[in-house]
Amino acid sequence: MTEERKNLIEVRNLKKYFEVGRGQVLKAVDGVSFSIKEGETLGLVGESGCGKSTTGRTIVRLYDATDGEVIFDGMNVHSLNRQELKRYTRKAQMIFQDPYASLNPRMTVTDIIGEGIDIHGLYKGKERQKRIYELLELVGLSREHANRFPHEFSGGQRQRIGVARALAIEPKFIVCDEPISALDVSIQAQVVNLLQDLQEEFGLTYLFIAHDLSMVKHISDRIAVMYLGVL
Ligand SMILES: Nc1ncnc2c1ncn2[C@@H]1O[C@H](COP(=O)(O)OP(=O)(O)O)[C@@H](O)[C@H]1O
Ligand SMILES: [Mg+2]
Repeated sequence: MTEERKNLIEVRNLKKYFEVGRGQVLKAVDGVSFSIKEGETLGLVGESGCGKSTTGRTIVRLYDATDGEVIFDGMNVHSLNRQELKRYTRKAQMIFQDPYASLNPRMTVTDIIGEGIDIHGLYKGKERQKRIYELLELVGLSREHANRFPHEFSGGQRQRIGVARALAIEPKFIVCDEPISALDVSIQAQVVNLLQDLQEEFGLTYLFIAHDLSMVKHISDRIAVMYLGVL
């Protein structure tokens, strides 16, 4: 039986330019269009500097778009009011490439994972703690890790914390920006397997960014190749 799935995300002619001084403009993303169906993984590959991260960051609204549209579940992501934007940021999350730079070294694991829970007012007190333990176990860590700091963990464990942080607010869509590139080859597969298991369990939709095909082949339903700001 074939199941008709709808597009969760439609990216239409998306552009992101950076002003880099003296009137110079760097066209990091220059008219990119694609869609991703609910529960699907779209791989996005291309050499370093071609605009992959900028595309991902613009989709989740870490950047404002220069032009073009991102339609998520029927709403235009770049024309939301504050309240709608908050709702959107709960549904669209990002996992970053460098698990060393992307976790605040002064925050405990509980604070890192709990931040989104607090911002969105999801759980308080005992419920919040219980949820954090649950998330740690979900990503293959344990409650004993809750009060530790990022430097006490290996790269793979840190990326698991990054995954737990993204999952904490129950998103539908996650941009995985080279989530395994900085990890030892021996643990890359573990993190990919974790992401796949979580996708199945929660029906997540992924934009999975990588710099080479070998990484994304296994996890992606379709693959888009980016070169100098275009697909
Ligand atoms: N915040 C920024 N300000 C200015 N230029 C940027 C910024 N972020 C990225 N760029 C430039 O945009 C281009 C695309 O970068 P990026 O999206 O990080 O590529 P990728 O993720 O494919 O390696 C690069 O030339 C990069 O130097
Ligand atoms: Mg990048």
